[in-house]
Amino acid sequence: MNRNILGMDFGTTNSKMAYMLLDEPEMILNSQGNKITPSIVYFKSEKEAIVGEIAKRNIILEPNKTVSSIKRKMGTDYKKKIGRYKFPPEYIAAEILKKLADDANKQLSKKFTNAVVSVPANYSDSQRQSIKDAAEIAGLTVLRMINEPTAAALAYGIKEDRDRRILVYDFGGGTFDVTILSVLSGFFDVDSTAGAHKLGGDDIDARIVKEVNNKLYEDFGIDMEKDLALRSTILEASEEAKIALSSVETTSINIPFIAADKPPFSMQLTRKMLNSMMSDLIECTKKPIERALDDASLEKNEIDDILLVGGTTLIPAVHEFVTQLFGKEPVKGPDPYEAVALGAAIASLEFGKEKSRMAKNIEISDVISSSLGVLTADGTVSRILERNTKIPIARTRNYTNSWDFVEEVTIPVFQGEGEYPEENEPLGEFWISIEPMLADENKIDVSFEVGKEFGILHVTAIDKISGNERTVKMEARSRLSKKDKNKWMKKLLGVESSKVNIINKSTRDVLNLYLNPFQTVCDLKNELIEKAVMDKNEMLFHNDIELEDAMNISNIDITNNSTIEIRQRNE
Ligand SMILES: Nc1ncnc2c1ncn2[C@@H]1O[C@H](COP(=O)(O)OP(=O)(O)OP(=O)(O)O)[C@@H](O)[C@H]1O
Ligand SMILES: [Mg+2]
Repeated sequence: MNRNILGMDFGTTNSKMAYMLLDEPEMILNSQGNKITPSIVYFKSEKEAIVGEIAKRNIILEPNKTVSSIKRKMGTDYKKKIGRYKFPPEYIAAEILKKLADDANKQLSKKFTNAVVSVPANYSDSQRQSIKDAAEIAGLTVLRMINEPTAAALAYGIKEDRDRRILVYDFGGGTFDVTILSVLSGFFDVDSTAGAHKLGGDDIDARIVKEVNNKLYEDFGIDMEKDLALRSTILEASEEAKIALSSVETTSINIPFIAADKPPFSMQLTRKMLNSMMSDLIECTKKPIERALDDASLEKNEIDDILLVGGTTLIPAVHEFVTQLFGKEPVKGPDPYEAVALGAAIASLEFGKEKSRMAKNIEISDVISSSLGVLTADGTVSRILERNTKIPIARTRNYTNSWDFVEEVTIPVFQGEGEYPEENEPLGEFWISIEPMLADENKIDVSFEVGKEFGILHVTAIDKISGNERTVKMEARSRLSKKDKNKWMKKLLGVESSKVNIINKSTRDVLNLYLNPFQTVCDLKNELIEKAVMDKNEMLFHNDIELEDAMNISNIDITNNSTIEIRQRNE
């Protein structure tokens, strides 16, 4: 069962993609012939959206209809109103992912319906879920989400046959992540990860924009905040100037047209000026580095290789900062722009049919990036799994009843580093019946289990006295209901996913699944095998007809609530 899997790096400013060509990861060009696609969506109308370079050019003309840096809004209630629609971040991100997948299909004459998608290491579960939803709306099945720095380390470490300890310094457009990994003969073991929320090249651009704004006000008494188009022009010119200053010492920001009665505007910008404007932002990356080292119980000199990832690391001052901090030069790894996408493609090997030479010896062990715990009677969150705990992991803590003769207890689960629930993100709650006893006499065990992939938590509570037990699978709740997701999928792709009941005749397992209409039966089988609902030797039937691997889900006569049966081969 061979699968086409796309490695996707959905970035704040730019998105990139790669796939495995035999044993090597390869970047895929978009339909404009570029390796990077600006993560910008221009809504020409409520019916039509344009993504990438062309959308970027339109920011100045129609800033109201153009959305950038949507990655920063994932997992929030942000909505973009266009005509009659209020588009959630998932939909806008889906437009970008769809453009990538469409371009990849065209470039390689393939049909990609599966993806490994990278996410910032410091993304919360609900942000991860939000990306997953976006991919589904775009008609893609996410086989795995991989942390961006881990992916970058994979792209670098795979070429190194020595055992190393690597620190990945990932400074992109909108996020800063640092991750420390040990690489031991193909085993990628994450020691710790930390990050600064919402810190990236965007913030540097904003500093330059502010400077320009001040000068504009001084020279002409103009406040660009009142003029969206002018603001966008300045933003673009500022980013250009910043990038130019990575290779030259002096540049200028020129705005030919400001207002009808004003002369053109020009301002000199030197590397030195830029450095002083942004030095505190670079400084902000220090704390997470120290935290990551601390969490891994390591000293700076125990890091063998420092790997720079992300466009912002191309700034000489950033390079110098890292060099000074560690007392040595960062290594020359893959292109800082490409590393994450290449790594996502490498991670897809895990799902390929034939384990290639490379896949045979790759294994990734990641960590959870924020703590998980339960709310206890004293009003604080008691942590069961601390951040940077290696996964897979299962851990149990013992609790008791705080009051006399209660018949049930609720187990509210939270994620985050705060002591109090309001400082954390709620994941869900459930209750179990317990034997009514005097206070402090029940013995309630709560276990948290996180599998190979950060994002799904199984919580089990057992009342030792009555033997009552419940396990609940907690996933960060989708902000979108299945119905909404389907609505957006229909809007973007013109088709919906259909809800089916999958029944395994021999084990009697029943699963409700929304089928991606672009999947093939082969993809579905793989998914069911991975979910342990189906065995390799079983087959799928619908209305007593065996479904063949090459069939497309959308071509099978499935409606909502149809049933698909899993049967033994010889039945
Ligand atoms: N030569 C350069 N010098 C300075 N900055 C640069 C250079 N090239 C790109 N950048 C900046 O790097 C950022 C984009 O980097 P990258 O594509 O790695 O980020 P991203 O993947 O979109 O964001 P993130 O990973 O944070 O979500 C932008 O802010 C861009 O202005
Ligand atoms: Mg990135």
